[in-house]
Amino acid sequence: MNKRNRILLLAGALGLAGGLVATRLMTRSRGAVDVREGELPTAGVLDTLALAVDVLAPTFAKGVIIRRPAVVALAERLELDRRAIGRMQKLRNKYGSGPLMLPLPIRKQAVILTPEHARRVLDESPEPFSAASSEKRAALSHFEPHGSLISQCPERTARRRFNEDVLEHERAVHHMVDKFLPVVDDEAGRLLAKARTQGELDWDTFNAGWTRMVRRVVFGDAAAGDQTISDMIIELRKAANWAFMHPKKTGLRSRFLARIQSYLDRAEPGSLAAVAASVPQSGDTMANHQVPQWLFAFDAAGMATFRALALLAAHPDQAARARAELRSHPGIDRQYLPFLRSTVLESLRLWPTTPAILRQSTRATQWEGGTMPEGTGILLFTPFFHRDDGRMDCADRFAPELWLKDDKVRDVQDRDWPLVPFSSGPVMCPARNLVLMLTSVMLGALIGEDDGIHRLTPSQQGRLDPARLPGTLDNYSLRFVVGAHNDAGTTGW
Ligand code: HEM
Repeated sequence: MNKRNRILLLAGALGLAGGLVATRLMTRSRGAVDVREGELPTAGVLDTLALAVDVLAPTFAKGVIIRRPAVVALAERLELDRRAIGRMQKLRNKYGSGPLMLPLPIRKQAVILTPEHARRVLDESPEPFSAASSEKRAALSHFEPHGSLISQCPERTARRRFNEDVLEHERAVHHMVDKFLPVVDDEAGRLLAKARTQGELDWDTFNAGWTRMVRRVVFGDAAAGDQTISDMIIELRKAANWAFMHPKKTGLRSRFLARIQSYLDRAEPGSLAAVAASVPQSGDTMANHQVPQWLFAFDAAGMATFRALALLAAHPDQAARARAELRSHPGIDRQYLPFLRSTVLESLRLWPTTPAILRQSTRATQWEGGTMPEGTGILLFTPFFHRDDGRMDCADRFAPELWLKDDKVRDVQDRDWPLVPFSSGPVMCPARNLVLMLTSVMLGALIGEDDGIHRLTPSQQGRLDPARLPGTLDNYSLRFVVGAHNDAGTTGW
């Protein structure tokens, strides 16, 4: 970890901590200690500090909009995510159901502690729990100032609708499947060929192929080699990590949005840009401001796929099952691969790519414990729900069976205990199905019959203990051996 990242992590923690202490002292001097607006429980100063250090600081230091690889590596080494979950469990045990108010300096902030409250916040979005929270607006406006996720109604309605129409959120299989699957196969073949010459598959090789695939799916083959557009969004996302603390790169943002617009105008057949040209739009839609979210979020899908590959490499029986599924779903039948989709979902449950789901209340709301004031920021920390070993036997194990139930059973299960890597309710990710289709097919192609990935490299073995998977999995340092596999186990599956 370099000096800059160490300083960053420390500064994040200390900044938050310092601010908290300052507010607390100011509050004390006015004579108001624990009973604050409404009567929702309010965390004490030490608990708030502990939450800032164990939960907030690592989450933000890792990079909310684009990850900082050195901090992710440190988080795996120090088990920071496991520590964060432990902190949340302690808070729940101490303060009960919450929502728990935090005495923060510049804003009202609540943390969700129960499944019922998680469900309520997600179901009642965007009103009264707006997804366009101040910090999300500050961050995402660096590259998509009119994106659906940070828009308010009525504009939001048109933008959400556009995303749903193009990404086909209701359909398990996107109607362009026959165009997209060959693109995935082609890019998987290219990246495996490169890995073979290197003797291993590493993150950089995978990510380069994945990003090419994304450009082809989103814009068409004309964008296959357009590294410039990918570099542009990386630079804008780096600034976005700092939200309002970094000036906007408005010139770069304009050039980036114009480049997207030129692909949308071109509407190459076989791409999402062509689908975008075919769906209804209004003056509010601002299609070129919706596409940055796609490019940005496909990055998360790549990370989830690479970690899913690691899960299969560490679980030979499950890998054999995945390969059997591929044999029984040849060619275009790969459009729906339940087991491989569940494997990607498990990767996202264990290591969520959106660990902090944020909301902000647009009016005062009533809870069993009291009133939450208007304008309160709300944090739903998903790893706490996804990996609570007090409530889930399989919290730290690879459990694809969690996702193999039919939708109705899953709905009931979700109400009991929220597993929400794609969020839920009216702001749920509209690309969930598209993502699961593309990632499962890519994963299948990587573990292919004859010459695919068959295990983690020797130096990496032991990194994923099936009995207790790590709290964080640093995707950037994963490495796999490429070669002929053997389900009997002689080569490592
Ligand atoms: C593994 C990959 C992905 C994950 C885990 C993921 C997760 C999420 C989550 C958690 C949200 C909701 C955030 C909130 O509630 O505040 C969201 C929203 C969204 N996602 Fe994804 N996403 C992924 C990939 C994608 C991709 C590839 C696209 C587009 C091609 C996409 C498009 C969107 C859009 C447009 C929204 C905003 C929805 C709205 O404004 O209502 N996502 N995603």
